Formats: sequence, structure tokens, C-alpha cells
Amino acid sequence: MTTHRVIRPAQALTGQADLPADKSIAHRSILFSAISEGTSRIVGFPDAADPQSSLACVRALGIQVDEDDGALIVHGEGLHGLRKPEGDLDCGNSGTTMRLLTGILAGQPFNTRLIGDASLSVRPMRRIMDPLRTMGADVSAEDGHAPLVISGRASPLSAITYRLPVASAQVKSCVLLAGLYAEGLTSVVETETCRDHTERMLGLHRDVDKGACTISVQGGVGPKASEWHIPGDFSAAAFLLVAASLIGGSRIHLPNVGLNPTRTGLLDILRSMGANIRIENTREISGEPIGDLTVESAELTGVRIDGSIIPNLIDEIPILAVAGACAEGTTTIRDAEELRHKESDRIRAVVTGLRAMGVDVEEFDDGMAIHGGKSLKGAEIATHHDHRIAMAFAVAGLLAEGETRIQDADIADVSFPGFYDTIKRLGREASQERL
Ligand code: S3P
Repeated sequence: MTTHRVIRPAQALTGQADLPADKSIAHRSILFSAISEGTSRIVGFPDAADPQSSLACVRALGIQVDEDDGALIVHGEGLHGLRKPEGDLDCGNSGTTMRLLTGILAGQPFNTRLIGDASLSVRPMRRIMDPLRTMGADVSAEDGHAPLVISGRASPLSAITYRLPVASAQVKSCVLLAGLYAEGLTSVVETETCRDHTERMLGLHRDVDKGACTISVQGGVGPKASEWHIPGDFSAAAFLLVAASLIGGSRIHLPNVGLNPTRTGLLDILRSMGANIRIENTREISGEPIGDLTVESAELTGVRIDGSIIPNLIDEIPILAVAGACAEGTTTIRDAEELRHKESDRIRAVVTGLRAMGVDVEEFDDGMAIHGGKSLKGAEIATHHDHRIAMAFAVAGLLAEGETRIQDADIADVSFPGFYDTIKRLGREASQERL
């Protein structure tokens, strides 16, 4: 069943919001705990649908996961303790579940089949199949799309050195996880930095030389059982940071936000647009930097966003585009072709949605130019089963004249359950209606 929501203009956002726990770290915490020897504890594992897909897959692979006082207790079985699942492994909408899990399953002695929803079933999987096949894995998929069929093998995979052709943390992580099941040292070389949670959480060796970073993993050495504390998701914070920046008179506080520098490109860009964001109480938790954010409304001006910062804000581009639409002048986004391969073609979805709201936008193969500064008009927005498109345009709706209707709005639950309630609570005058 699809749920539409009507968003009406807000006067100001004020107060404090607790964010959902970081999706990327959550996926890794449950997958790594499953193949650790012994018991791990995960504090703050989120209810969001995507990490729950990883949890369900781990359980289907025979791993016992209990709940204790809100934490997950994962009884890891070591690198070779997973069991053949009874049926298909359902990754839902989650590309991270599918791509990381395939790296682990490529080295198992049993066959598996991974499926996903309509959106995940059209996302590119050759990017992981190619390196895994070079390692000797037997992974097949019709046309390079899920379902993925992985044949079990008795012998270890072959170690490789793989130069990432796309700045993708999912591909990087997939190869490194398969490397745990290979004989010898598997290395991934990245020339553009993308999120590094896998390296941090597995404590992997990184070697930086002439602008390239080589990350290596020793085959046969599994992760250590650990206690993971998952910080608030910066990618969820992004929607509130932009909303509060744009809506006059706003001031909101976001405690315990993950501030890993490979994730926070949006902070740098918003600040260069004139945003007023304060970071306090910075500290480290489970090897990840976190802090408390306070954002107040400000006049924003357009900027150019391109080059090596793109992988560090790739998930935030839909909401940055909304910021650009409301900023004075032009915001140009280039080098972001990867956006066409996310939960939807996000370049097309953003351009179409902004045009429906009366914004003058040019579309490029690898981005867009948004001529901002005119008021937005409420419109009907197609979300293409994409959580970030739904939330970005809900924020646009808070700023638009009249009503904005978000189709299939509850897809936001993929990463941010309670998103609409949060903006409703923060908005003194914001009003929404569920249809
Ligand atoms: C993720 C990596 C990114 C990001 C996705 C989560 C991860 O994808 O878009 O939402 O947790 O590794 P790519 O690695 O494919 O760029």
C-alpha cells in the first residue's frame, strides 16, 4: 500500500531532534558481528527498514541475535560458521545489504540467492560481480541485476589488488569482505576517498601514496567480536540542517551526530553557501567522530559542487538541490553521474520534482544547474520508491506556496522512521495531513 502525504508551509523549526542511528555503520555492525568469533553487542541498532534487511539476512544465515535492554546481542560464529539459508535472502530496498553480503557469501561452501525490491532489482551489480569473479567466485545475475545467485565453493578465493573504477564504498567493502575468504592479501586501491566505515570498523591497514589509498585485508583473519555504539545518521541530519537553514526564524539542535569526514561534505558546502551551523562537544565513539550540531536559519547563496567532494555528499545531493533552489543565484552540481544508479535515478527525479515546483533547472548527464531564489510552488511529487527523494521534497514542501503532495511518502522509513512526525513537531506552524 502506498501512502501519500500533504506538506504545507512551515513558519519556523525549533527544538531538538534525535536522529535515527547511522545506516551505513549499522549494516556493517551486524554483518561483521555475524562473522566474528564470539558475542558482540550493538547499541542503538536502528528500526529503519534498510538495516533491518541486513539483520533479517544474518538471522536467515543461522546467526542467533537476541535483544537486551534495547541492544542487539549477536552470537557470531566466525568466518566459517554461517549456515545455508532455507530460502532466498531478501535485501529489500538495501543496496548496502546486497553488495556487502555478496562479498561474504562469495566465500561460503553453500549456494545462496539474493533478491531485492523493484528499485534494488534494477541497480547495477556488475560492479561487484566483476571483481568477485576475478577472485574466482561464481556469482551470476541476469543482465547484471538482482536476483544474484552465488555458488558455494570448497576452496578459498584468490586474493587480488583491485583498483576501484567508481568511488563506491559498497564495492570497496564487498571486495574487502571477500578478501577475508581469500588466500593471502587482498587490496583495494581508491583514488577518490569514499566512506571508510569498513576500514575503521575492521581496523584495516591503509597506505596512502601519490593521491591513491590502498586498503588491505589478510585472508583467513576474521573480525573481532566487539561492542558497537552507532551514532546518529549525518545523512538523516542533512534534511533537518537544510530545512532549518532555509526556513526563517529556525533554530534546531541535533545531538550525537556522526561526523566522519568521508560523510560530511554537505557541512562544508552548506557553510560555503552561508549556513549557520555550529559543532560542539566533538568526541569519538566506536572509532567514529561524533558531535552535537546547532543550526540557525541563514540567507544562502548558490555554489558549484563537483570533483572529489562528490563521494562525500553523494546521498545528500537531493536535499542540497533543494537548498540550491531556495538560495540566491545558481547552484551547479557536476561529476555526480553515480546519482543515476541510486534507489532511483536521482538526477532525473530531482530535476523533475524541482521543475514541477516551478524551479528553473538544467539537467546534465552528471548533474544539474539550479537557478534559485524564486519561491517554490506546491506540487505533486513522484518519489520513485526512493526515501531520499521523498524527504528532500517534503522539506521543499515546507518552503513552498500551497500544498505539496508526496507520493509513496512512507518510503522514508527505509532510513528515517518518524521523519514526518519529526518535522511536524519541530515546525510550530507546519501542518501535514495523511491521505
Ligand atoms: C553506502 C555507500 C554509498 C551510499 C549508500 C551507503 C555504504 O553507496 O550511497 O547509501 O554504506 O557503503 P556507494 O558505495 O555505491 O556509492
